[in-house]
Amino acid sequence: MVHTTPFLLVLSLAVVAPVLSTRKCTLTGRWINDLGSNMTIMAVNEKGEFLGSYHTAVTATGNEIKVSPLQGSQHRTDKNSQATFGFTVNWSFSDSVTVFTGQCFVDEEGKEVLKTMWLLRSNVDRIEDDWKATMVGTSIFTRIK
Ligand code: BTN
Repeated sequence: MVHTTPFLLVLSLAVVAPVLSTRKCTLTGRWINDLGSNMTIMAVNEKGEFLGSYHTAVTATGNEIKVSPLQGSQHRTDKNSQATFGFTVNWSFSDSVTVFTGQCFVDEEGKEVLKTMWLLRSNVDRIEDDWKATMVGTSIFTRIK
């Protein structure tokens, strides 16, 4: 009788832990990143392709920020509940393009998080300026409830 409680505790951990670790991370929905930028990802189709929109909080230009389209694809999810993905934002208010690549994780609290890296390519007038045309960074997105 004395040994029943620890046994039940271990049993319940053994049952719950694998369920938590395999919870699926889904790209579809609204996300916010560490800069305060928002994006909406629409349905992911059977090929893993998706469309969406991106509202950046910041810009490298002096232009007025406008919502911009994004298109991307995620890796096949049947094997992996934490899929890798990539998407491109074609900025509607500047001549630049940003590509993001990352992975959709479920963290230890069960919250979905997108860990990404990005490359922002700006337009330059002269080939001699190519060296300064690309920025790189990381971004962490969390789901907007
Ligand atoms: C531009 O300034 O030409 C377009 C906007 C770029 C915004 C960048 S993309 C990477 C980083 N993450 C964001 O959410 N916004 C900035």
